[in-house]
Formats: sequence, C-alpha cells, structure tokens
Amino acid sequence: MTNTFDKDRIHTVKKKHQNQKKYLTSFDSRAFPHVFTDVLIIGSGVAGLSAAIQAARSGSALVVTKDKLDENNTTYAQGGIAVAMADKDTIAKHTKDTLDAGQRLCNASVVKTIVSEGPSRVKDLIEWGAKFDREDDKLIFTKEGGHQFPRIIRAQGDSTGREVENTLIRAVRENRNIKIFEHTFAIDLITKEGVCHGIITWHAKRGYVLIWAKRTILAAGGCGQVYRETTNPDVATGDGVAMAYRAGAVLQDMEFVQFHPTTLYIAGAVRFLITETVRGEGGILRNSKGARFMPDYHPQAELAPRDVVSQSILKEMQKTGHTCVYLDVRHIPQERLYTRFPKIKEICASFGIDIAADLIPVRPSAHYMIGGVKVDRFCKTAVKQLYACGETACTGMHGANRLGSNSLLEGLVTGYTAGIDACKSIRRTKRDMAPYTVQETLGLSKISWLDLNDIRNSLKSLMWRDVGIERDEMRLLEAEEMIQMWCSYVLDKEFSHPAGWELQNMLLVSGLIVSAARKRKESRGVHHRTDYPQTDNTRWKKHIVSSH
Ligand code: FAD
Ligand code: SIN
Repeated sequence: MTNTFDKDRIHTVKKKHQNQKKYLTSFDSRAFPHVFTDVLIIGSGVAGLSAAIQAARSGSALVVTKDKLDENNTTYAQGGIAVAMADKDTIAKHTKDTLDAGQRLCNASVVKTIVSEGPSRVKDLIEWGAKFDREDDKLIFTKEGGHQFPRIIRAQGDSTGREVENTLIRAVRENRNIKIFEHTFAIDLITKEGVCHGIITWHAKRGYVLIWAKRTILAAGGCGQVYRETTNPDVATGDGVAMAYRAGAVLQDMEFVQFHPTTLYIAGAVRFLITETVRGEGGILRNSKGARFMPDYHPQAELAPRDVVSQSILKEMQKTGHTCVYLDVRHIPQERLYTRFPKIKEICASFGIDIAADLIPVRPSAHYMIGGVKVDRFCKTAVKQLYACGETACTGMHGANRLGSNSLLEGLVTGYTAGIDACKSIRRTKRDMAPYTVQETLGLSKISWLDLNDIRNSLKSLMWRDVGIERDEMRLLEAEEMIQMWCSYVLDKEFSHPAGWELQNMLLVSGLIVSAARKRKESRGVHHRTDYPQTDNTRWKKHIVSSH
C-alpha cells in the first residue's frame, strides 16, 4: 500500500483555517490521571477491533471508543463484504473492478494488496465464529453495482455488519491483553516535534484522562454526520480526521464523499439504508409517476455505479418535483424477500410499509468518506508513531469512487496491517514510554449560551444543499463563507463537553471538504461539478492533499 505519487499527481492545499489550534481543550498533564499502554486504538468498528487483536499479540492494547462498543458504521453495514473467494472469481477480476470504479485515482498496488489479503481476513472471521450465509454449506455470493462477478458475502440476509462486529467483539473480550474504555471521548492526539505519544480523553464520570502509548492507531470512522441526509449513525462526526489534521497529519481526497442512492425516505424517520443488494436481487427504481428510469441513464440500469444511480435519482426528483423516488420489489416472491431482507422488512413494516406489496420511498444520502488521513502501505501517517486505518484513512484503495462492499474489506485488512506493524515496530525499537509534562492554555472564552444544536443542524443543511451530489462554484463559495463565519465564533470558544468538540471537528472537516471540492475543477467519480461536467485527465488526474 505505498502512496508513492509523483509530484504531478498531487495538488497541495495549504489552507489556513480560522483559529487553527493544536488542541481543542486547555489541560495540564500534572493535574490529570494517566494510563499507559503499548498500543492505543481509537475506535471500535471493524478497523479498530481488527487492529487491537493484532496489536495485542505481544503487548498491551487499549481500545477507546466514544459510545457503546458496537455503536459505529460497521454495525449498521448491510450488503456485505466483497471478497474474491467464489469458485470462478479471481484477485485480478476484483482488482480490475475496483480500479475501474476508482476512475484512475486508485493506487493499484494498494488495491491488489487489499484484495489479495481479503480471503485470509475473512477466513479469520469464520475461524472466530462469524456465520456468513450459506447454501449447501457453501458461502453465498451476491452481485452489487460495478462488480462484474457475484462476490459479496453476507450474514443473516442484511445484517452483515452486526455479525462482523459481534465476532470481533467476542475475540477482543476473550483477549486478556486488550482493555476497553467505552463512552470515552478522544479529544486530541498528544504530539511533540511530529511524534505522537497518546491522547487526551474525557469521560462523563472520570473527567479528563491522559493515555500514553508507544503507538497510536486512529480508527475513528467517517464523517457522514456533517450532512443532513446520511446513513451514518450519530458517532460519525469526523473526529479522527480532524484530530489528525490538528496534529500535523496529511489528508488526501477530502472532496470525494460517496452518496448512497437508496435511503428510506420518510419525513422524521432516521435515514435507514436500503442495501444495494436489493437492486442486486432485481429491485427496480421508479419515479413518482411510476416510470422505471435507470435504463435511460446507464446500460447497467439499477446496477450502474453508485454515483451514476445517485445523480440519476436526483435528476428524476428535479424533473418530477417530488421529494423521493421509489424502490419496487413487488415482483420478487414474498417469501424470498422476507428471508433475504429481514431487517429491511422489519424497519419498513414499522412505518406501515410491506415491502412485498408497497413501493419503498427512497432517496440518496451521504454514506462514506473516501478521503481521510493519508497513509503508506503499513498504514503509517505523516506523524511518527501514529497509524490510521478503516474509513478514517485514505489508503488509495477507492480512488474517486468506492465499489460497494469494499470498505468492510478495507477495514479488516488495514486494521490487521496497522495492528501488526505497530506491534512489530515496538519490538524493534524497545524504547520505554516517556510521558512528559504537557500543558495547553487556550485562554478562550467558555460561554455556554451558544446553541450548538442549531449550528450543527444549520451546518448539516448547508453541506447537503451546497456540497452534496451536485456542486458548483457559487454554492461551494457560499458554503465556504458560511463555514468560515461559524468557525469565527465556534472555534474561538473553549468547550468542556463532547457536543462542543464534535461541532468544532465537524466545522473543520466540512471546511476541508469544501476547500478540496472547490479546488477540483472537474467531475470525477463521486465529485460531480455541474460547472465542470467533464473529467479532465490532463489537469486533474491527481490527488488533492491538505495539511497545515
Ligand atoms: P466505524 O465502524 O464507524 O467505527 C468508528 C469508531 O470510532 C466508532 O466506534 C466510534 O464511536 C469511534 N470514534 C469516533 N470518534 C471518536 C472519538 N472522538 N473518540 C473515541 N471514539 C471515537 N461497507 C461495506 O463494505 N459493506 C456494506 O454492506 C456496508 N454497508 C453500510 C451500511 C451503512 C448503513 C453504513 C453507515 C455503512 C456501510 N458500509 C458498508 C461502510 C462501512 O460500514 C464502513 O465504512 C466501515 O464499517 C467503517 O469501519 P471503521 O472501523 O473504519 O469505522
Ligand atoms: C449497501 O449494502 O448497499 C452498502 C454497501 C456499501 O456501502 O458498501
């Protein structure tokens, strides 16, 4: 997984964000309790738990997570894991499909490594007790958009993420070298001269605690919550990317936010994902007039790449003036539907929709952050002793568009890689941990009368309206100005609770998405600019990296 891009392939954005600071909170290490571990892992999804299991092979590992252990994107994953394990499938075919989807921005050697390691990591899961759906004892493989071959394995029909997460949790809980701190918010990485030494955390009862580590692994997931419409749970506020940026790490591809075409759209309800495999099983998209429209947009119709389906749905919504389109699975036998998609059946039924008899109202929403903390093939970041993996990282696997079901795979493989390398590098250096006195005095006002919820909701609406599926210079500029205005009075305050820190992180991450989106004056993959509709390989076949 090398990110050895030559200079022509990188465009650097050095943006001075207002009130840029290294830490979000004032603190004095002499006043707070300390905890020590060999390897510290921030996040408890597929990447974090995979990393912890490997990191604990020859030392202590500590997993810090801001909510319950299983509250993360991983748990909500539905469709499955893409893995080249079916009889006639090959690593070369899976690699090719991934590269095709990425529209010339994937790192081919990263793709090949991750795809090649996939089968071994899935076999680990099976060995640890994961039960993937089978027929006659053989794994069942499904097809999703952009895959030329059925290669998606799943569990309990549409609850793959829950099975993966539960399996990893069992393995972690059985491992005496691994400790878990739940409901513990990682505020910032402690760094000195470009080296990471741990983190500062906050817990509702224990207050501030400093955790010192020989190696730190960021596996804090994505940032879907910066958008009003998102499939991501509340924890996905981009904290990992924001804290890495403050600590001096380099970010890459922040303009590439993937939108999932089909999220259940019922006003007031949480945006529940309707997995792409529903279309893989024959689901048809219809507009509000009942007409099937996808064949008009792409030869692969409902199984066209995700960006194409999302953009087509948006166009149909604009054409018909309706707030959503509909997924039609009424032609699929009821028994098959109910056994194949039990969770979707249950959730839809709770809103009075019988998926076998009714149309399902859907529309796109923000789903996955392709960009993130730039890492090398060992998942090392630009900050020494700091790794990143899973959705927080930008490995180069997805390029400009992620192929469905490739991210659980990436989380499994990169978590494993980061955990192993952290463990090995500690053995190689044999240095003791050296905690030091560290103080930060921000001297900022601590007002409590800001309505954080109001700003958070306004930011999410702005991002959805101006930095969503379709973008143009005027709307991006408006978003940039609004975000800068909010930054001027939100980043200028000091908060003593997660809601404040999350909002500060969301503003920072949103600002970085907008800067990169303004910079890329072309359309490619998930980044669709109506004022620059063409892909420009002469000027823009390169990455945008951000650092301060
Ligand atoms: P996560 O699983 O999101 O874990 C991040 C962790 O970091 C969480 O535990 C969180 O609490 C913690 N954290 C964050 N900030 C802090 C902080 N400040 N302090 C402490 N802890 C923190 N991908 C597929 O390949 N196949 C699918 O079928 C699929 N379906 C999906 C369905 C849905 C609804 C969603 C939302 C995503 C889906 N994806 C799917 C994408 C995939 O689930 C994610 O990309 C992947 O699970 C990310 O794993 P992760 O370990 O990097 O992050
Ligand atoms: C889905 O099941 O449609 C989501 C798959 C993914 O995001 O990879």
